[in-house]
Amino acid sequence: MVCLGNICRSPLAEGILREKVKDLNVETDSAGTSAYHVDEAPDTRSILTGRKHNINISDLRGRQFIVEDFDRFDKIYVMDQSNYNNVIQMARNESDKLKVEYILNEVEPGANAEVPDPYYGGDKGFENVYKMLDVATDKIVEKIKNGKL
Ligand code: 4NP
Repeated sequence: MVCLGNICRSPLAEGILREKVKDLNVETDSAGTSAYHVDEAPDTRSILTGRKHNINISDLRGRQFIVEDFDRFDKIYVMDQSNYNNVIQMARNESDKLKVEYILNEVEPGANAEVPDPYYGGDKGFENVYKMLDVATDKIVEKIKNGKL
């Protein structure tokens, strides 16, 4: 799960997916395209939003996306177009590029809809992000269980 800062959207996405695949053999992680918040805990508003839904993300720490992530993961989900462009720029080949997908394309294929950055907004933005990620991660889990991912 990739966003810009790795403190608002992608840790929440990671935490929600981690909970949903806890009985499956699946590795989850998240990263930011920037190094702004490396080693920091998620934004308090993301932690509280997760907690409201029984998702604990307080253990997660920010890190920057690295090229080796293309080797470590089968799928790389980005939150918005800027993340998409940044990650695609790091791809070494077509196989790397094929791993990158807008997370909301799991809900609305091909639409390239964005999970809006909630950093400068209020708490409602975080709840909105949560709802989008909850729906998208349901689709991801469905695909995993059907062997389609
Ligand atoms: P995120 O949100 O990409 O969802 O983690 C942001 C967090 C921090 C900043 C931007 C977006 N920032 O500019 O510091």
